[in-house]
This record gives sequence, C-alpha cells and structure tokens, in this order.
Amino acid sequence: MAVMNQNYCNLKESYLFSQIAAKVNAFVEKHREKKVIRMGIGDVTLPLAPSVVAAMQKAVAEMGVKDTFKGYGPEQGYAFLRQALVKYYDNQGIGLAADEIFVSDGAKSDCGNITDLFDNVNTILVPDPVYPVYVDTNIMCGRKIVYVDGLPENNFLPMPDYAINADVIYLCSPNNPTGAAYTKEQLQAWVDYALSKDAVILYDAAYEAFVTDPDIPRSIFCVEGAKTCAIELCSLSKTAGFTGTRCGYTVVPHDLKRKAGNGADMSLNKMWLRRQTTKFNGVPYIIQRGAEAVFSTQGQAECQEMLDYYRENARIMMKTLAQKNIRFFGGVYSPYIWLQCPEGMGSWEFFDYLLEKLAIVGTPGAGFGKRGEGYLRLTAFGSREATIEAMSRIEEKL
Ligand code: MLT
Repeated sequence: MAVMNQNYCNLKESYLFSQIAAKVNAFVEKHREKKVIRMGIGDVTLPLAPSVVAAMQKAVAEMGVKDTFKGYGPEQGYAFLRQALVKYYDNQGIGLAADEIFVSDGAKSDCGNITDLFDNVNTILVPDPVYPVYVDTNIMCGRKIVYVDGLPENNFLPMPDYAINADVIYLCSPNNPTGAAYTKEQLQAWVDYALSKDAVILYDAAYEAFVTDPDIPRSIFCVEGAKTCAIELCSLSKTAGFTGTRCGYTVVPHDLKRKAGNGADMSLNKMWLRRQTTKFNGVPYIIQRGAEAVFSTQGQAECQEMLDYYRENARIMMKTLAQKNIRFFGGVYSPYIWLQCPEGMGSWEFFDYLLEKLAIVGTPGAGFGKRGEGYLRLTAFGSREATIEAMSRIEEKL
C-alpha cells in the first residue's frame, strides 16, 4: 500500500496565486463587460529585450544544423552563461568561481529543491510576511517553522533574535511582498547570527536588479562571512522578463560546509551538484543563450530600460496612494507596493472590494503570513496604460 506524505494535510487548500487566479477567473466569467486590471501576481508584461530574442533565434538556428545541434547539456549550466555570471558578480566586487554558480529554471524551483540538502530535524526561520514558497515547501517536509515579525515599526525588515535557535534562515531582499530592502549592516547582523548558530541562510535575491542605491546590497556575498553561511537564489524573471522563459541561478560557495546527522563533513556545493546532476537535466541551450545575452553590455542596457519602465509605474502608483493618504511601503527598490488596507479592512475583504468595485486585482497580504493581515500588495509590472487606469479608478472610487 502506498502511504502518502501526510504533511500535505497541513498545507492550505491551494497555493496563494492559484487561489487568487481561481477567484479572478470566476469574477471575469460573471462580469465579462468589466475591464479587469491585474496587479496581483508579479508577472511582467514587457516583451523580452531585442538582444535576448536575437541570441535565442541564433541558438534555434544552431539547433537545426547537424554540426551545432546540442543534446543534453551540463546539468549545472553551460560554461558561457556561468562565466557571464562570474563577470556580473565581479562587477559588484564579488569574486566567485564558475562552479559555484548553478543555472536553474528559476528561483521558485530552486527555493523548493534546495530543501533536499537539509535534514527534516532542522528548525526553519522565516520572516512574516513572506513569499509563500518558503513556508509551503518546508511544511511539505514536516519541518518546524519559526517566524520573525515584519512590522511597520521595523519597516518590515525583521532582525535576528538570538533567543531563537534557527538552523535554516530564509531572507528575501528586496523583499517579496513588502518591497523593503536590507542595508549592508543589517545583512551583516543576519550573517553574524547565522554564523553563531551554525545555520545556513537561503538568500532570495530575485529582485536585486531593481536596486539602484549603491548602499543597498544586491547580493549577500558583499557581506563579510556570507560565503561560509549563505546560498543565494536568483532569477531572470523580473530582471529580464523571463517569467515564461524560465531561467535563474543559485550560488553555493565552496566555503559553505556543515555536518550531516552522522557527523560527516558535507560541502553544500558538492551536495547541490550531486542533487542537480541526479534530478535535473539543465536549462535548454536556447534559453541559456538568451540568458547570456541579458548579461552583455547591450542586454544590460535594454533590461535596465525595462526596469525603468516598471519603476516609473511604481512612482505613478505611489503618487496616487500618497494623495489618497493610504499608507504604503516598498515601491522604491522593488516592483511591489505594500499598502495598508483603508478603513481597517482585512486583506481578503479589501481584495474583494477592489475586485468587485474597481475591477483591480491585488494580492491579499494575509496570503503571505499572519503579519500580512490588513495589507495588500500591488505590482508595478503592468502596462503604463493599465497602471494609469488603475490609479484613476483608485483616485475616483476609493
Ligand atoms: C509573486 O507574485 O510573488 C511572484 O511573481 C511569484 C513568483 O515569482 O513565483
């Protein structure tokens, strides 16, 4: 008899964004006349950059010619992309070896897959509110989860509490959902805490490309000691519009070592290589050529232009919210604006109100954790026209 993983009984009925999609689809079905503006899931709307498209087209042509056709590639990514990433980090003053970088099909998959490296006895620390994948994937393994609170008083940037004995720590900066970003000193405090507990930080840097302030770190590896306690998960989804194209990368430094339950010395880099070569066949060659183009000079300029477009959307949104005296966070180093629901409404209540009265889709803060109750997240990833239209609805009808 097959016995199922009973930890699944402890999960919510469905994944947050699937639950929202179901609600929105039902609404659209019922109100076909309404023009629904989607500011819920953080999905991009601008097309891929021209140099990315050209690189992929060239790769497609190569795949159609016997001499340049590619079958299985290296599971951890082609050397050309890993080298491009080494250079990307080098430009930030961070030295990495190419074999510390593992190309993946996105940060979401790796966020879940990385749990393979850790025993289920570990205590997992997550900030609340938080990207639901961290919590759900650990519930699936039956692990103990403890929370540190993100509150308006700490600008939604919780700091370590030495009374908590965490083994694995999730951090996301710039943060999804709140848009808050840690300073170097604050990240240093987390690294010091992790080192004191022999813990490992899983650092989600999916939104790093939104940072323009040189004082805000784009990688945890600019912090002293991080290479001995952190793994960094990155994505091209928001940086380069790869939400549907799928490509990301995970950095597992050689200096990151911990003990197994039986006392054996383990290199997390070697474990991850073993895991990936066993369970993953790599990202398609065509996609990796497109990703390589993202990190070319031309690609970077084109992607920054896309990010500027979204940044301008965020500015338009922040202006309207300020005029309406709605309290909000984020929006500066992030495509997300985290706003306090007006008139004391609950997250789902405000979600329903926005959908039904204004035909705007947001993401209820409560979906990101207990501390998200009373908040709602809007994304700046829409088209300019839709963003302006949504803000005029808020200005007139809210
Ligand atoms: C979000 O809206 O939080 C993200 O788009 C989800 C994701 O990146 O998987």
